[in-house]
Amino acid sequence: MPRHHEDSLLPTSPIDLKRFKFVGSKEVNRAWTQGAQIMGTVPTIQLHNGIAMPLLGFGVFQMTDEEAEQSVVDAIDIGYRLIDTATSYMNERAVGRGIARVGIAREDLFVTSKLWVADASYDGTITAYQRSLDKLGLEYLDLYLIHQPYGDIYGAWRALEDLYEEGKVKAIGVSNFSPARLTDLMLNNRIKPMVNQIETHPFHQQVAAHELMQAEGVVHEGWAPFAEGRSGLFSNETLVAIANKHGKSVGQVVLRWDLQREVVSIPKSVRRDRIAENFAIFDFELDDSDMQRIAELDEEKKLFVDHEDPAFVKMLFSRVLPD
Ligand SMILES: NC(=O)c1ccc[n+]([C@@H]2O[C@H](COP(=O)([O-])OP(=O)(O)OC[C@H]3O[C@@H](n4cnc5c(N)ncnc54)[C@H](OP(=O)(O)O)[C@@H]3O)[C@@H](O)[C@H]2O)c1
Repeated sequence: MPRHHEDSLLPTSPIDLKRFKFVGSKEVNRAWTQGAQIMGTVPTIQLHNGIAMPLLGFGVFQMTDEEAEQSVVDAIDIGYRLIDTATSYMNERAVGRGIARVGIAREDLFVTSKLWVADASYDGTITAYQRSLDKLGLEYLDLYLIHQPYGDIYGAWRALEDLYEEGKVKAIGVSNFSPARLTDLMLNNRIKPMVNQIETHPFHQQVAAHELMQAEGVVHEGWAPFAEGRSGLFSNETLVAIANKHGKSVGQVVLRWDLQREVVSIPKSVRRDRIAENFAIFDFELDDSDMQRIAELDEEKKLFVDHEDPAFVKMLFSRVLPD
């Protein structure tokens, strides 16, 4: 069991501590007294509207309802405060049940969902947002993202701006927007996205996108931090060597690397032991040589979908989601 000492909970340099606030300490302390195996508070990064977003969260893509409900309970119990779902994951109701089972105060959670392509229009977005809230059993979302850069994303963005200005959602953003798409959206609307969630892992580090987003004050959230294990991530020699050096796992090294780059990461697991392992990243630090060696793993190539591929776009619009 890790030491329960304030110092061990703090992220260390090169993260600029002035940019972080700590959330959830009360619940974490309660979890500690209840004997939770993994402890820690989650450092947050400030969005450009002042909202604090945890730098480590929990993703629920490709889970059955049973897995989503139970793993959300486990994740919150272990200390995660950010839950990342989407309409297209078809598990918003199960996520909502998990949140309700834990009984955590709403303001101590940061819940994200995403707008599906078929709903990407002004009216579609207003309706879809309420549908997501109803399924999740929540009064508001902390972050609502346009999931894919297709459909009437301008109409969708104007709806998000209105929902935000009416106080119905705490923060708004996009996902899978290339630097050019993001720039276009920023130049032609009232409110800049607060977050862009994009594929990010050691084999696709998104350095140029990251620099643009940092310069523009848009927080970089990375999806598939483990590349879903593709390209042998968990047995990669460099990552294994760095993990051994710190007495940590490859997964923990990857998530710590994200944290030190100020990339919000949202690892997914349906196993409580791994959910806990993935949370134990606040008690060690990668040094410059570790960071450099990981930087050299970048192949600058997407491992999942090609957003420029017409077949992918057609596939998205052919998907009919059940109610
Ligand atoms: N915006 C988008 O378009 C988009 C796209 C994809 C994903 N996302 C978000 O990003 C989240 C994370 O991405 P992802 O779910 O695709 O993949 P991921 O987090 O990169 O990888 C998940 C895989 O790694 C395994 N795993 C987790 N922790 C592990 C550990 N410590 N050691 C060994 N294996 C481990 C999991 O298996 P077990 O579950 O069996 O442990 C699962 O097979 C999603 O859940 C979703 O919220 C967003």
